[in-house]
Amino acid sequence: MVSDTTLRQDVMAEVAKYKETVNQDPYRLNYHIMPPVGLLNDPNGFIQWKDSYHLFYQWMPFKTDHGAKFWGHYTSKDLVHWKHEEVALTPSEWFEKNGCYSGSAIEHDGKMYVFYTGNVKDDTGKRDSYQCLAVSHDGIHFDKKGPVIEVPEGYTPHFRDPKVWEQDGQFFMVIGAQTNDLKGAVALFTSKNLTDWDHVGILTGGGNGQLGEFGYMFECPDMFELGGKSILIFSPQGLTPEGMKYHNVYQAGYVCGQFDPMTGDYQHGEFEELDRGFDFYAPQTTLDQEGRRILMAWMSVPEQNEQQHPTIQYKWLHNMTIPRELKLVDGKVQQFPVKEIETLREGEAIQHTLMIQNEEIQLENMKGNSIELILEDIMIKKGFFYMAIGDAAKLVFSADEGVFTLERKSYVDGEIERRQCKLRELKAIRIFIDTSSVEVFLNKGEECFSSRFYPTHNEITVGGSDVKLELYKWRLKKIC
Ligand code: FRU
Repeated sequence: MVSDTTLRQDVMAEVAKYKETVNQDPYRLNYHIMPPVGLLNDPNGFIQWKDSYHLFYQWMPFKTDHGAKFWGHYTSKDLVHWKHEEVALTPSEWFEKNGCYSGSAIEHDGKMYVFYTGNVKDDTGKRDSYQCLAVSHDGIHFDKKGPVIEVPEGYTPHFRDPKVWEQDGQFFMVIGAQTNDLKGAVALFTSKNLTDWDHVGILTGGGNGQLGEFGYMFECPDMFELGGKSILIFSPQGLTPEGMKYHNVYQAGYVCGQFDPMTGDYQHGEFEELDRGFDFYAPQTTLDQEGRRILMAWMSVPEQNEQQHPTIQYKWLHNMTIPRELKLVDGKVQQFPVKEIETLREGEAIQHTLMIQNEEIQLENMKGNSIELILEDIMIKKGFFYMAIGDAAKLVFSADEGVFTLERKSYVDGEIERRQCKLRELKAIRIFIDTSSVEVFLNKGEECFSSRFYPTHNEITVGGSDVKLELYKWRLKKIC
């Protein structure tokens, strides 16, 4: 085992060694959370604690690939400007030697409690998982208390990603799991003191109930109340594509229903993907002091051409989405960029009224690799509308078919690939473009597409058959 002190020194040396290389990357993002070096994946321990938001993340500092993960750490006062803090957790103990895997944070008695999965593999590759606790007085330094939960009967060691919350005077924990007959499941635990935990049973999944056959593993569950309903977010693995759904290697979505904290019973409806884009996984939420339910997600998908991203030659890989506020609208979870994101805007909006009649228009003044666009009052009765962002992404709406498409030039082979969803009408689009990412919000939160892309120019063109709309553009500050 390598000591905590040595691991921390090694991380600092690695960051210093590659700082310049990382910063030379033209695709380094301007306003998204990224690792200083190495690979970032899931958001962890997202919490507003005292006067700061804390976002921890899965971090492999020593290579642009997965491995024995650390918990990296960012803090922010406003969800927009983030400060990189010292490493929160290193995989220095026997119960986490192959990684401090994903988990969550909760405030208790004025302290921050974080729960995470200690991932352990023996020489033959056999896996063990421990749900571990670490406690902090200052939100920066953590005192590891070690394992509080071992894998109960009935599950394989694919048992991870504890998310903890308090409800009706009790603590609850959901864990992503796989049952012995290789079905994805969410396991439920309760506790009175955050240290002693009881296994209640399977909250949902396991090949039964509303979900039925639904893949072989659920990762990163998150349960919370929203608009009077109990929402369970999770990332299932092993679904096969169905129409326009489930085209990424793995999915991330939610079910909506009613959780009974007395019995642990959870009745819910169908699974819905949270985001229709190419790159969205392992979302995690927190309730902030304003009462907002805020979500951040990893803007990638495990094993989905991760090693082909061009940023690898600059020694870094992956980023988070922008923070989004969740609302329940007509039984559907909708996502809205947090209002603070508007502080990224530089100056006044540039505004255009666009009338498109079977033509393509190159928008003057619409260059830029760090911009926000709002398209409103869209009038399109029939035919189609499109917007090309540089040479690597295109949004297309077919009013005739009621289908919205995000096209992307693949960073693997240059071919055009597509993600789609049904959309009855297109009234508004809000787009956040960064040097190599795009996040599209349709009809003020109804649907959302998040993706990495690698354009070689940033001209914006629009076209369509018979379309009228109002367009607003802001240049966004580079703050990373
Ligand atoms: C999801 C995940 C989690 C795990 C972590 C390891 O992307 O596989 O299930 O805790 O990443 O980095």
